[in-house]
Amino acid sequence: MSVDPAVSSARIRRCEILLLEPRESADFDLQDLLSGGNGIRRQMRWVALAPHLGEPVDVDAVQRELLGRIGASQWQDLPADEDERAACEALLRLGLLVSASPADDAALQVRQADDRQREAYWHPLAAVLHAFTRWDGVDAVKNTRDSGTDTAVGMREVLGPPPAPTAVAADAESQVLPLQDDTDFDALLARRATCRNFDEHRPLPMALFSTMLARVFGARAHVQVSDDLRFQKKSSPSGGGLHPTEAYLVVQNVEGVAPGVYRYLLDGHRLLRLPDPPMGLRAFAMEALGQQHWFANAHCLVTLVPRFDRTFWKYRRHAKGYRVIALEAGHLSQTMYLSATDLGLGAFITGAINERCLEPVLQLDPVQQGALAMCGFGWRAASMETAELDPAGEVWTRAG
Ligand SMILES: Cc1cc2nc3c(=O)[nH]c(=O)nc-3n(C[C@H](O)[C@H](O)[C@H](O)COP(=O)(O)O)c2cc1C
Repeated sequence: MSVDPAVSSARIRRCEILLLEPRESADFDLQDLLSGGNGIRRQMRWVALAPHLGEPVDVDAVQRELLGRIGASQWQDLPADEDERAACEALLRLGLLVSASPADDAALQVRQADDRQREAYWHPLAAVLHAFTRWDGVDAVKNTRDSGTDTAVGMREVLGPPPAPTAVAADAESQVLPLQDDTDFDALLARRATCRNFDEHRPLPMALFSTMLARVFGARAHVQVSDDLRFQKKSSPSGGGLHPTEAYLVVQNVEGVAPGVYRYLLDGHRLLRLPDPPMGLRAFAMEALGQQHWFANAHCLVTLVPRFDRTFWKYRRHAKGYRVIALEAGHLSQTMYLSATDLGLGAFITGAINERCLEPVLQLDPVQQGALAMCGFGWRAASMETAELDPAGEVWTRAG
């Protein structure tokens, strides 16, 4: 086998994070069908999941064995054996090995991506989970419709009954708790409902928009530890007090703010405008939301974008780091729901998002930052076109 002169003298190491998955795929096979089979050909292959690449990469048996022998921390010479050397060259081209002295642009980009991965201190399993659960072009609405699970009745029919509640022995002793009289806070909680019906013809006043952002994403106070370390006090809790999650907005119908994509800047309670998405705002919103049209016309959409490296700066390769960040997104969304309810607005959250279309428009490097969920808020519509969960009539009898 020939040796690529560009890499023949390079020192190499494995990329920092890599998981190997035995993957089964099923393809239609006409030949199998004609010869009496079921027409399905099943194949096994090894797939390397390396988050700095963002795409799964097929590896063969020789490459798989080499990846198990070449460490990620020490630089080493290419193997002397000619076949192994050729396999290493292939792995360098795939980006699963990195070179100490990249010979071309492609090798340099891989090296830089791996360096950024190392600098972000991800727990390896969390990095793989995050990188390989990002959606691209998924139509979540069509998928649930096609599977027949788009209504509660359909869900029951297709999926059968859900797991029964955890059984309690009939003779188990339990203590009944006394209920207290409702307060205004209970009334606010009762009116909270995921809004799937926005009034896109009624602009949102600046005062409400600004109050929402200040309440959910603004800081109320801070503690200055050193010139370069400040802890913010916000309305939602945050693991380690690090508040890694930033808000990126799609403003669609707010008085005094031109429709567009913005980054909310905590410092000074300001908006920084980003370039418009090439496909137009509404198409971008629909694509980002997995075609959930019931959310796409909200007056303001908010993508929750954690700076992972901020939390992982403290919780280095920590088994709970990613989980803590995901939990924080839930807190932010609940603060948004309650604030919107208090102001007479509707709010939502969805995890069914196409991160891949958000990343270039929001200018995110998915290793250091990422889109975790999308929320939004705005005026509720006068009538309900898409179902909401309001069994007590707290929202819709009042509006109607
Ligand atoms: C993390 C998370 C993800 C959600 N994703 C979606 C979604 O993709 N689409 C949607 O219509 N609602 C979504 N919801 C809203 C739930 O469907 C809603 O909370 C649930 O039906 C209960 O209704 P309620 O919020 O009005 O009490 C999500 C809620 C949470 C907390």
